[in-house]
Amino acid sequence: MNKIIVTIDGWSSCGKSTLARGLAKELGYVYIDSGAMYRAVTLYFLRSHLDWSDAQAVADHLKDISLSFHQNEHTGQSEMFLNGENVEYVIRDLVVAEKVSEVAALGPVRTFAVAQQRQMGEKKGIVMDGRDIGTVVFPHAELKFFMTADNAVRVERRFKELYTKNPNISIEEVKNNLEMRDYIDSHRDISPLRQAEDAVVLDNSNMTMDEQLQFAMDLVRQRLKLQIQ
Ligand code: CDP
Repeated sequence: MNKIIVTIDGWSSCGKSTLARGLAKELGYVYIDSGAMYRAVTLYFLRSHLDWSDAQAVADHLKDISLSFHQNEHTGQSEMFLNGENVEYVIRDLVVAEKVSEVAALGPVRTFAVAQQRQMGEKKGIVMDGRDIGTVVFPHAELKFFMTADNAVRVERRFKELYTKNPNISIEEVKNNLEMRDYIDSHRDISPLRQAEDAVVLDNSNMTMDEQLQFAMDLVRQRLKLQIQ
């Protein structure tokens, strides 16, 4: 059967990766967390104490970065590697989240990441989530979702996630971070977060994970049928 590309864009922490992972599993597709790539680049820049207002320094540093995804044997989940190091855990830290939207707004960083993302989708059979996947990375994708959820629900979800790793974290910090990232991501000059015209909106504020997966799978099946006809 022909394979398709499914894109999932949307606001911070609204469950994009949960849906993307679920869809990829059901379909036997590859899941790519494009946000992890921007987070890994940010981690590299932070560790290098890079002043990213210096365009030449950004370009030089990007040459030294190699990003790859590898499947964890125990969990079956894909994890982010930066120059051979597994950074899946550390890139979720608030220290990285505080800076990632600034770094992701830089033109050379986007060019670097988007080229690799497009390559990963060459053979289709991919579910990718992010901010510009349906608009810029794969504008001709067969199925696009734009996800959203109530702000309070999003803050609560991300707080619970981060609290298990760091009990010193406050709900205000998480709320401020999501608001700041959403603002920067949707107002930047290059590839701002916006809903693609042909995207299906999915507000999962009152949906269970299973409900959202079934909703999305119904649409995937419709698209796959269209592929066969
Ligand atoms: O999971 P969460 O919604 O918190 O965000 P993420 O997908 O891990 O993305 C982290 C950040 O990377 C976003 O806030 C954006 O600044 C940036 N990003 C982007 O610019 N373009 C993408 N395709 C994906 C992420």
